[in-house]
Amino acid sequence: MKFFIDTANLEQIKEAQALGVLDGVTTNPSLMAKEGISGQANVIAHYKAICAIVDDNVSAEVIATDYEGMIAEGNALAALDNKIVVKIPMIKDGIKALKYFSDKGIRTNCTLIFTAGQALLAAKAGASYVSPFLGRLDDIGADSFGLIEDIRLIFDNYGYETQILAASIRNSVHIVECAKIGADVMTGPLSSILGLLKHPLTDSGLAQFLADHKKAAEAEAAK
Ligand code: G3P
Repeated sequence: MKFFIDTANLEQIKEAQALGVLDGVTTNPSLMAKEGISGQANVIAHYKAICAIVDDNVSAEVIATDYEGMIAEGNALAALDNKIVVKIPMIKDGIKALKYFSDKGIRTNCTLIFTAGQALLAAKAGASYVSPFLGRLDDIGADSFGLIEDIRLIFDNYGYETQILAASIRNSVHIVECAKIGADVMTGPLSSILGLLKHPLTDSGLAQFLADHKKAAEAEAAK
């Protein structure tokens, strides 16, 4: 399973990269705004800064919602760095844009996926990734893991190479459940990745090991 971090915060991206388990970054207009990044020059500089930290897979979302606008923006984003994956919303013109970029060999991530039908359509259009939003489905009491299962089944039925990028991940349980189902990628906050480290028996076990070691060292020194 690939691990992406879902943030535009450079410090968090650096921390995740330093762990040695990071495969990429996803951003969206809300995450960029959260970091105070606005204006074309600043946005471009920020994407370049992210690309300088990670090895590959930096999803950069278009703002345009019409075909020509998405093509122009997507081409400009893709030209920044070959690590860029153009993020396109699940709308009618977005499907046409996915096909255009697929034919051009530019990687895409189709975002705001909430049904298996949307994922199927994006795969047909040649999306490199589809991003079903788990947390937001959970928020409305919908079956988010069922959606991942359905997309996995459909893609496997037809051998689609489009990768399932489980997005809107909120915690480490989401990550593990998506891994069990067979999502290709997960994107979540740093806290969801660090959450995988945690178990109280790990903490108490380590504390006991270190206490026993200290006791034995003190006994040895007292001889
Ligand atoms: O980047 C898309 C998605 O991961 C957003 O997550 O937490 O805002 O629902 P969230």
